[in-house]
Parts: sequence; structure tokens; C-alpha cells
Amino acid sequence: MATRFGRYTVVRQLGSGGMGSVYEAIHADLQKRVAIKTLHASFAEDEMLRARFLREGQLSAKLRHPHVVDVFDVGVEADVPYLVMEILDGEDLDHVLKREPIQPVAKTMERLLPVCAAVAAAHEAGIIHRDLKPANVFLARTAAGEVPKVLDFGLGKLADAEGGGLTGTSVALGTPDYMAPEQVQNSREADGRCDQYSLGVLLYQCLVGKKPFAGETMAENVFRVLSGQYDPPRQVNPNIPPALELVIVKAMSLAPEDRYASVSAFARALLPFATQDVRHRWESVFGPPESSMTPPPLGGPGRISSLPPVQESPYTLGDVQPGPPSVLFMGRSGPTQILGPEKPPFPWLFVVIPLVLSVLGVGGVVGWKLTHPPAPPPAPPRVETFTVQVAVTPATATLELDGAPVGTGTYTAALPRDGRMHLLRATAPGYVEGVLAFRDAAPAQTLTLTAVVVDAGPPPRRRRREH
Ligand SMILES: Nc1ncnc2c1ncn2[C@@H]1O[C@H](COP(=O)(O)OP(=O)(O)OP(=O)(O)O)[C@@H](O)[C@H]1O
Ligand SMILES: [Mg+2]
Repeated sequence: MATRFGRYTVVRQLGSGGMGSVYEAIHADLQKRVAIKTLHASFAEDEMLRARFLREGQLSAKLRHPHVVDVFDVGVEADVPYLVMEILDGEDLDHVLKREPIQPVAKTMERLLPVCAAVAAAHEAGIIHRDLKPANVFLARTAAGEVPKVLDFGLGKLADAEGGGLTGTSVALGTPDYMAPEQVQNSREADGRCDQYSLGVLLYQCLVGKKPFAGETMAENVFRVLSGQYDPPRQVNPNIPPALELVIVKAMSLAPEDRYASVSAFARALLPFATQDVRHRWESVFGPPESSMTPPPLGGPGRISSLPPVQESPYTLGDVQPGPPSVLFMGRSGPTQILGPEKPPFPWLFVVIPLVLSVLGVGGVVGWKLTHPPAPPPAPPRVETFTVQVAVTPATATLELDGAPVGTGTYTAALPRDGRMHLLRATAPGYVEGVLAFRDAAPAQTLTLTAVVVDAGPPPRRRRREH
């Protein structure tokens, strides 16, 4: 039955995501079909998130672009914050990829170039999307054919919300699969280049047929994102043109400065792979394709080649950036399920703990021989270390460092300061797994796992006694 929601009559639910639900509705007076996005009740209780939702809604309403969904109203009705958008017929790219995981190159260009145009225009207006993913690219069916439209502009910024977290520090919400490493480390610091990275991941998925960082566990996922370990596109799908592989890899560089200078530059690099018609259309927006493309750096000194090989790949690109050294995240994993009447608002939470980054020189010294009369005596090779001391609650939690078991309850070790990213993972039955990620500096000394809330369900019905 249709429900009244302010001036709108809700017809049906179109879907639900991490942040809220989307409904088809009709404006009572105008008899106009619209889509209404409401914020999940659990978020709506948080004053700060509420305010941000509305503010970002207002901001995205200002962004008018043929490839961005039009937002034309925001408000609060019966204590539920909502925003009203143009309703789109068709389906989002996530649905398409679930049905046909590998997309042809030309089709992908036809869809992605308009998305790049929308993101580039938003960047010029000072708006970063921060949550670009296939579910936020809607392929609208119109009289003129398929029109890609970007959804949820600005809403990814809710990720920067303060408070309400597990430890009271900043909480980042989003989809790790498409998130740039610097965004995973410190969402608030990430600039527009994180959107280019997400577009690179999206491009990878369309052409390769799978997400680049899909690991068995959330911990593995994050580890792969932070270390840039994924199967080279052409290794999985050799039909991808080698030059296009370079574009994907450059956009997905670990270090933002190794990516294209802008989303427009990224789009220009894609133009040669579009059909002539599509290329001509977008050349007028992005400019002609660059004549020579600089291939991205492939390993070499200072690159992260020393990371444990989760998966062997020559594409461990870019210098590891000295971001905040410690990332703690907790999320659902494995068979543990949080059961409840409402879909949990986000499938996982990142809690970013800013720590002071200590940069130390490495005491590697070239070994001169004492017998060399003019040379000074050789300094003994010094290996700087840092001490990790973590106590986990419950004390029965099983601990793994970089995938290898390291006991239960507490972990103490002196590790070399060698620029390697480490993951300390704690699991215990009945608790949400917890992971501390750190590099060259000690992470938090305590880690408290959150007990899984299991909905007991309706009370069992009494059996009638049989006589
Ligand atoms: N303006 C719209 N018109 C038609 N369908 C829409 C519109 N906006 C969103 N949808 C659809 O509603 C569903 C839910 O969207 P929603 O944004 O809540 O989910 P999501 O993108 O998976 O998660 P997130 O909250 O992380 O963005 C999706 O299937 C989406 O395609
Ligand atoms: Mg969405």
C-alpha cells in the first residue's frame, strides 16, 4: 500500500545501500515521479551525520551536470532526513557487472567517459565524490539511449564524520574495494585523486571481470589495497590492449602523485580506446588524447617489492607514502553474522587512529674494509627496530601477523623499521574481527573486539502438550 511521506506518496522501495534506502515516490501536487533517498535510522540518530547528510544533499543539488543525477530537494520528515532526486529508469552498473562481469572495451569507454566528465566537473566545483563504485553509476534508459549518471555525489563525505566510532576517533565509512590507499589510511586527507583511483578500479573491474582486491577476508582486502597488490589486467584478460593496461595501472598508482594530474587527463588517456564517434564527442570536453603516454614506474628501488607476496604481481607500484602509520578497522568477517531486523548500516567500519609518524634514517652503510688505509672504519650495519605490544580483549583471541599465527591474547615483538606494512589480525568466536595495520611505528597497545549482536529472533512457540 502507498505510504504518505510529507508531500510525497511512496510507491515502492527501489533498493537499499549502506547509508540509506531509495524509494520511488510521487509528488502529491505535481504528480511527478521522483526518487527519495532516506538516511538509515541508526545514522539519523546521530546529529552530526544528519546535518552532514543534509548539507551534502544541498551541495549536490548545486551540481548540475547531464551525467550527475539531479537532486532537487532535501529535508527532514517524521525525523527522517531525506533527499529527493530525479527518478531514473534502467539499472546501475553493479547490476550489469553481476550479470556480465567482463564488458567490451568500447562499451566501457562509452560509459566511463561521461562519468569522468561528471567527476571532472565536480572537482572543478570543489566537490569530491569519495565513493565511486559500480552501484553509484546508473545507466539510465532514455529516449536518446543509455545515459550514465553518477549517484550519491558528496555523500561519501559522510565518511569523514567525527565521533560515534568505536574508539571515539574518526570513522571512515565506505567500500574498501574501490577506495584509494590514502583514503583508507586517512579519509579526511584524501583529495580528488582518490576519485581517479576509484575510476581506475572501476575500469579494471569492467575489463578484467573481477575486482582487483577481492581477498578472502576484509583484512586481506585492506592489505592488498594498501600494498597495491593485484593481478595485472592483461594476465587475467589478455584481450585488453597493453596501452590501456598502462592507463588502468597509472590511475591505480599507490601514490597519488604517480596518477594522472586530473580526471580530465585520465579521460584523455582513455580516448584512443573509444570508437571514433565517442572519441570525437569527448575530445571537445577533455581535449585531444596525449600523443605519448608515460608508462608508470614498475617496481625498482624504493618500491614496495619487499611486501609479503599475497599475490605475485609486477604492479606493486609507487613509493609507500608516509601516511598515518596505524589503521585500525573492524568489520564483519567469515561466518560471523550480525543478525537483526535492519540491514547493518555499513558492512564495515574503519577507525583511523592518527599517530605521530617517526621518520628515521636507515643505517645501511657501505662496507669499507679496514685494510683500506684512507677509508674510515666501517660502521656496523644498524637495523632500527620498533616495539609492538598489543593486548587484545578477549584474551582468548587468536592473533595473526601478516597471515602467520602469532599466539593468543597478547603480541609483543621488535620489528625492523623497513617500510613494510603489517597487519595484526585478531579473531575470536562471537566477536567481530579486529585488525591493526601499521608501518614502522607501534600501533595502539590495546584492541578490544566487539561482541557480535545476535538477534535471538521471535521466542519459540510452545508446543501443545500431547496427552
Ligand atoms: N535516482 C534514482 N533513480 C532510480 N534508482 C535509484 C536512484 N538512486 C538510487 N537508485 C537505486 O537504488 C538502489 C539503492 O541505492 P543506494 O545508493 O542506497 O545503494 P548503494 O549505492 O549500493 O549504497 P551506498 O549507500 O553506499 O551508496 C540502487 O539499486 C540504485 O541503483
Ligand atoms: Mg549509492
